[in-house]
Amino acid sequence: MQKVLVTGGCGYIGSHTIVDLIDNGFEVISIDNLSNSDEKALAGIRKITGKSAKNYRVDLCEANKTRRVFEQNPGIVGIIHFAALKSVEESVFQPLRYFHNNNESLVNILSCAQEFGVPNVIFSSSCSVYGNAKELPVTETTAFQEAECPYARTKQMGEKIIEDFCKVTKEVRAISLRYFNPAGAHESAFIGESPRNKASNLVPVITETAIGKRESMTVFGSDYDTRDGSCVRDYIHVMDIAAAHTACLQYLLGSKNTAPSEIFNVGIGDGVTVLEAIHAFEKVTGQKLNYTIGPRRAGDVVSIYANRDKAERLLGWVPKRGIDEIMRSAWAWQVKNAPKN
Ligand code: NAD
Ligand code: WQD
Repeated sequence: MQKVLVTGGCGYIGSHTIVDLIDNGFEVISIDNLSNSDEKALAGIRKITGKSAKNYRVDLCEANKTRRVFEQNPGIVGIIHFAALKSVEESVFQPLRYFHNNNESLVNILSCAQEFGVPNVIFSSSCSVYGNAKELPVTETTAFQEAECPYARTKQMGEKIIEDFCKVTKEVRAISLRYFNPAGAHESAFIGESPRNKASNLVPVITETAIGKRESMTVFGSDYDTRDGSCVRDYIHVMDIAAAHTACLQYLLGSKNTAPSEIFNVGIGDGVTVLEAIHAFEKVTGQKLNYTIGPRRAGDVVSIYANRDKAERLLGWVPKRGIDEIMRSAWAWQVKNAPKN
């Protein structure tokens, strides 16, 4: 079996991707320091797949400890690098912590790929690299605008670090995947999104409100120039994101890449407004949501959604689930994992 290293494998997208990799015949190990997760996700992975993924509790900023994992695991064919800090708000107040964690861990991973002869690297980037995009839908060649926060800047820098590295390091090729708004959970509800900090993303806010963890929620702005006045986003099911990684890995393993480093958008390719998302939740679950319309949230872009043609054309990747399945699975996860009292 081909061995893949997933960093951040106990986190939200990493754990779902491990399931898809195992389902596609890969053996997986993880490095995760559990700074935003715990190893419960590994038990969920085992329940779903019947197979185990070992996690090394190592901080990827510690180069020597990271090297040791590679020494103990010869023959890794690919690295999928999810590990990062991801809070937009926190990054504004702790920029150095974000640059240190997200960029140094990436540099260490690339150094190990080179030193230990791992030929394929996949990097978690984000639609936040586009900033306030000047054209919609955004394609991979749409110019970056000013990053809205230090977190987004770590992703812009991460992509550039990879590009510079792969230009001169012919034995390593890489792909950066720009995810749009990941949401939902595995259909079994054995794994899902369980942030250590208070949720601020729309879908977990919706499910936490419906289950009664919050009394009500606020729609941030209803006077935008959109079809119903609320912001437009591209919500993409986490299992579709997972499948995009497997498709990328197979593409790289088959030497189908067209350049030393490439970039793909990973979104559904369509925009959904906040109010449409809420109505989808109410329709699919039969729950009435207690929400009010409030002021705009600082830093929000009005609309962003992906052109995903490149991923379909080159990777053969097409998302299979829409907003209804996102809401159904996120709700099943919430119901199964809500505290019982
Ligand atoms: P997550 O926080 O659930 O997972 C990240 C994991 O990385 C966590 O388990 C954390 O403990 C681990 N980690 C962080 N720093 C580490 C370090 N220095 N050493 C070892 N482990 C470390 O986040 P996620 O939602 O699964 O996101 C995965 C990746 O996707 C991140 O790079 C994130 O920036 C990117 N991304 C996420 C979203 C989103 O909305 N969830 C959108 C676009 C891009
Ligand atoms: C979605 C929409 C809110 C909560 C963030 C990061 C981005 C990427 C994905 C990592 C917006 C509205 C939300 C609420 C609301 N992450 N909303 N009430 O801001 O599009 O993107 O996650 O790379 O970098 O910025 O996601 O889920 O926070 O918001 O009305 O209580 O829902 O205003 O329009 P966002 P989000």
